[in-house]
Amino acid sequence: MFQLTLCILKPDVVRSPRLFHEIIELILQRQFIFVKSKRLQLNSERAGEFYREHQGKFFYSRLVHYMSCGPISCHILGRDNAIQEWRSMLGPTKVFKTIFEAESTIRGQYGVTDTRNCGHGSDSTETAQREIKFFFPEFDMKSISKYENLLA
Ligand code: TYD
Ligand code: MG
Repeated sequence: MFQLTLCILKPDVVRSPRLFHEIIELILQRQFIFVKSKRLQLNSERAGEFYREHQGKFFYSRLVHYMSCGPISCHILGRDNAIQEWRSMLGPTKVFKTIFEAESTIRGQYGVTDTRNCGHGSDSTETAQREIKFFFPEFDMKSISKYENLLA
């Protein structure tokens, strides 16, 4: 089923033009459509709001600090099964788990720590909707069929 998901390329990726380009190429090779893209910097308040489900966890303040330390690149990605496909391209959250991967993933290749792990991907249709709205409030989710047709 055609889906939209929110992809964030985190500050380390945006800081490195070569890595940024490499990851964009990988995404395109996997037949994703870039529906909307936006580069911006979050302040810690907004970063905290985005990750509010993690409030109280040991990594929360480190995560919020990191996500507001520099520009990030936000994308609405579309394709069949986009939510799961983008997360499987990213790989496991924890860097040590990437050691056990059969196939290489973005986090496995380029992740530095559990926090500095290259990217974010929505984990369900509900979170995708909320997260797309968070970064692209002007985007009309009902226009999804317009993008689906691009794949035909
Ligand atoms: P989570 O939603 O569990 O992972 P994912 O990004 O794969 O959906 O966590 C959100 C972010 O929080 C994660 O990308 C990086 C950070 N984080 C840590 O820094 N340490 C951790 O142990 C975990 C679980 C997450
Ligand atoms: Mg998550």
